[in-house]
Formats: sequence, C-alpha cells, structure tokens
Amino acid sequence: MEIRDFGDTGLRVPVIGLGTSGTFDVGDDRQDMVDEVVALHFEAGTRVVDTSPMYGRAERTVARAIDSRRGETILATKIWTDSVEEGQAQFEAQLRFYGGRVDIEQVHNLVQTDGHLEWMLREKDSGRIGVIGATHYRAAAFRELEDVMRSGRIECIQVPYNPAEREVEDRILPLAEELGLGVLAMRPFADGSLMRNPPDEGELRALGLTSWSDALLKWCLSDPRIHVAIPATSKQENARSNAAAGDGPWLDDEVRRRVTELAGH
Ligand SMILES: NC(=O)c1ccc[n+]([C@@H]2O[C@H](COP(=O)([O-])OP(=O)(O)OC[C@H]3O[C@@H](n4cnc5c(N)ncnc54)[C@H](OP(=O)(O)O)[C@@H]3O)[C@@H](O)[C@H]2O)c1
Repeated sequence: MEIRDFGDTGLRVPVIGLGTSGTFDVGDDRQDMVDEVVALHFEAGTRVVDTSPMYGRAERTVARAIDSRRGETILATKIWTDSVEEGQAQFEAQLRFYGGRVDIEQVHNLVQTDGHLEWMLREKDSGRIGVIGATHYRAAAFRELEDVMRSGRIECIQVPYNPAEREVEDRILPLAEELGLGVLAMRPFADGSLMRNPPDEGELRALGLTSWSDALLKWCLSDPRIHVAIPATSKQENARSNAAAGDGPWLDDEVRRRVTELAGH
C-alpha cells in the first residue's frame, strides 16, 4: 500500500485508512465483526483508524480491536461537544481507551473550536496529543474551516471528497497544500449512496479498475493533496476490497472524468 507524507506533520500514512461511523457502534455480540474488519485492514497495510465520541460505542469497540496493535496504529479521534469541560472528559476517556495518547485529535464539525483548541494545544505540548486537526462534512462550513486552517493552530483537516462532493477542490485543498496540512478524506462513497448503482464491471475493467469501490477510492486518492481516505464498512468482503485499493497506478484526468460520469455527476 502506498504511503504518503501527512502534510508537514512528520507522520507518514498509508493511503487507505478505516472510518467507523455507524458501522462500529455495536454491542459485545458484534465485537467479532469489528475485530475482523480491523484485522483485514491491518493485514493489507492500513494504519489510520478514525473514530469519534459521536459514533456511540465505536471508540470502545475500536480500542478492543486494536488492543495488541496500538503501537502500530495511527489513532485518529475527535472532540465533539459545546462544553470545554465535557471535551476534556472525552479526552480523558480516550486516553484510557488508547494507552495514554491520541495520535490525531480533531475538533469534530468545528463545535467549540476556540475553546477546545486552547487545551488541545497544551496537551500536544505535553505529548498526549500527536497532531491537532479539525473536521467538517458540509461545504457551508468551509469558510469557517479556512479561518481555522489559517490560524496556525491545526496541522490537519478531515473533509468529504468523492465524485458527488467536490467543493473542497475550490479553496480547501489548495489552502491545505499551501499550508502543509495533512488531509483525511471522509465519505469516499458518499456514505454508501454511490455504491447503490454500481456501473457495469466490463466498463470498469476496460478502465483498468477491479471494482466500483476500487474506482471511487482511486478517484479520491488520485488527487495527491489527499493523504488518506477512510472508508467505513461492517463487511469482511468490503474491508478486503477497500484495503486493496491503496496502490497505484492512479487515475489520469480522462479516467477520473469517466469515473465521475459513471457516478452520475
Ligand atoms: N464530520 C466528520 O468528521 C465526519 C463526517 C462523516 C464521516 N466521517 C468519517 O469518515 C468515515 C467514512 O465516511 P462514512 O462512513 O460517512 O461513509 P463512506 O465510507 O463513504 O461509506 C460507508 C458506507 O459504504 C458501504 N461500503 C463500504 N465499503 C463498501 C464496498 N467495498 N462495497 C459496497 N459498499 C461499501 C458501507 O456499508 P457496509 O457496512 O455494508 O460495507 C457503509 O454503509 C466515517 O466512518 C468517519 O470515520 C467524519
């Protein structure tokens, strides 16, 4: 799997990571599913796992699944609350889950950004946070995200990127590149909506692509300003195919344009 510099953070990241929204919010009876999906990703070379207190039980199920592999995991999570005190309590819980350190700590959806960044910067100085970032899933918030990017307080961003959601191309990705920020691409399948009507396999093969998930992940990662894409899945076969998409050759402009058309955009 290809490995890229995560902006100027000093981290190097395999280009396929693993999202956990919805899929890993499960009870003890489904911990096996989480363990298997995580194991398949790690076997293929994945290291970044992205979660959040917003995702219910996912932070806990991830902690169990990566247990003996914590040292090789680049653990990304988020702080998601209006309250600074509650945010610090979320962080303390994460330290217990993840062996006393969070590798990538993000302000989720720009909620209480200033209040959280103040204490997160202190935690970075103390070594309990590796890299600080901010996320948002809606283009309407990108002006605000730009201001936070320019503030010098964050080193990475997490934004949506797929053929149906390309707004980051206008200003966010150029700015991230200019500032040397790491970029995680969320929603590479538009939360699964792009997977509902996959195109004919023969057409994909003619383009040198092995499957529709391969096409969409390669579409995303063919932009070198994206450092890691984080698809989420609850299925072993999907985990296998997603993790296998992390090697070039990447798509040229013509194939990328065709994949965009096949996605209906
Ligand atoms: N504001 C934020 O910070 C924010 C917002 C959104 C997302 N995120 C992060 O980004 C991650 C990814 O985004 P997402 O979960 O919204 O959407 P996504 O990764 O675009 O899509 C996930 C959906 O696609 C399906 N899927 C995955 N692989 C597949 C395959 N090979 N073939 C067919 N279907 C497949 C999954 O269903 P199966 O389980 O059936 O495979 C799941 O329903 C999240 O999990 C989260 O970590 C962050």
